[in-house]
Amino acid sequence: MTTREVLIFDTTLRDGEQAPGNSLSPEEKLRLARQLDALGVDIIEAGFPAASEGDYRSVRDIATEVRSPVIAALARCTERDIELAGEALSGAARGRLHVFISTSDLHMREKLRTTRDGVLAMAREAVRRARQYTDDVEFSAEDASRTDPDFLCRVVEAAIEEGATTINLPDTVGYAMPAEYAAMFRDVRERVPGSDRITLSAHCHDDLGLAVANTLAAISAGAAQVECTVNGIGERAGNAALEEIVMASRVRGAAVAFQCKVESREIYRTSQLLSYLTGVFPQPNKAIVGRNAFAHEAGIHQHGMLQNGLTYEIIRPDMVGIPHSTLVLGKHSGRHALERRCQELGYQLTGEELATLYQGFTALAERKREILDEDLLALLHESFSDAPEEFQLSHLRVVCGSVTATAEVRMTGSWTGERSARGTGDGPIAAAFAAVSEILERQLEVVSLSLRSLTPGRDSVGQVFLQAKIDGKSLTGHGASTDVVEASARALVHALNKARHADKLEASSLNSVYLWGV
Ligand code: KIV
Ligand code: ZN
Repeated sequence: MTTREVLIFDTTLRDGEQAPGNSLSPEEKLRLARQLDALGVDIIEAGFPAASEGDYRSVRDIATEVRSPVIAALARCTERDIELAGEALSGAARGRLHVFISTSDLHMREKLRTTRDGVLAMAREAVRRARQYTDDVEFSAEDASRTDPDFLCRVVEAAIEEGATTINLPDTVGYAMPAEYAAMFRDVRERVPGSDRITLSAHCHDDLGLAVANTLAAISAGAAQVECTVNGIGERAGNAALEEIVMASRVRGAAVAFQCKVESREIYRTSQLLSYLTGVFPQPNKAIVGRNAFAHEAGIHQHGMLQNGLTYEIIRPDMVGIPHSTLVLGKHSGRHALERRCQELGYQLTGEELATLYQGFTALAERKREILDEDLLALLHESFSDAPEEFQLSHLRVVCGSVTATAEVRMTGSWTGERSARGTGDGPIAAAFAAVSEILERQLEVVSLSLRSLTPGRDSVGQVFLQAKIDGKSLTGHGASTDVVEASARALVHALNKARHADKLEASSLNSVYLWGV
């Protein structure tokens, strides 16, 4: 079997981000897009510009700032969607317009309320229109795996005739079995004239846990592009996980007969960055990037590992860039040692970033004797700002136990000056949140809060991720501290800073040309 080159189309920022709990601000999307570039993906689907002004702005910013990969933008088969996507991509070094329409009878009847002829005409028109913006046009037949094969071939043929250069055949609802999905690709390849001149693409959802298996089956049947997301995030059960596809090619190259140009040592860093930004970490046993993916618990396994790592480990952790949990730094470590360790972990910091990190580092070193890589990574992610720190928590004191919990909070804000308030609640975290809400006079509802301990030991850093509704807007925040009440308050303040930043951006774009809302 010959080994083929397969393009990696990353849709974390579009299909992944649109799933509940994964929403990211434009700044966060840009940060992730830069990391996807370092990971070496071929195409980044940056968003769906017609969905919201934020999406439009993210696609535009990513297109102008991230220059190596192709940047794709999604559009329905409508004039306005295509126009917005085309404009958002106008600054790209290489932009791709991705148009889609449902082709299954069920979707056409219930969702689009149109006929096969109607869909055929819309698909033709959309591809023709998209070609006015770029030569790189992808057409997706949504729900392809439940589409009548003859009609699928007709739509694909029409899209190719109009100039589509990539044809994507999604298993939109994760329904296909690997053999069926592969057969669909063979069928299209054999029956549609011109299909040998374009790239066929696979796009699988994981409703039956088969997204990666289906993707590999499609590759064996001729797909030369695969659409996937980091950590497998996405609608419902998620999309095919990028890291699993890439590592299948590295570990079982001869069996899967494809290769891709992703830098596998960037996988863990990318996965961690996404998790920090969304506050959603993969389940511990998630392949490649889960916390336990390389842990060996059973005595018999540990014994084998000590004799020879190959006994139970098919991937060495360093192949995906997992740092060893090393004792790195302590109270007496200086700025240079901190900078060097960050470089060893793959982070090049600016002078300003290093200064902020060093501040956090010295504060932590006062409370925690040994600072491990995990602590450092948490501090690093804390120090990357996705919104200016307009409010800062300057003081927190709580009383709790067998009495009503009370909290005394002092905050400094660049436009509010110093303010303080007291709050009460069922517990210390609720009391601290009540005080913060009192100071900032904003409507707060904490939708979810999760806490994880970064390292073993009593002085471990607790990291809090929360999702909050602030004056009706959903935002996420994170905070870390050896004190979990303080970590929670910091997470809330982080979300509040993001809310303030979003308000300002909204106010500044009130006069923008387009009206969003789909
Ligand atoms: O799952 C799907 O069908 C999609 C298309 C929009 C490509 O995400
Ligand atoms: Zn999808």
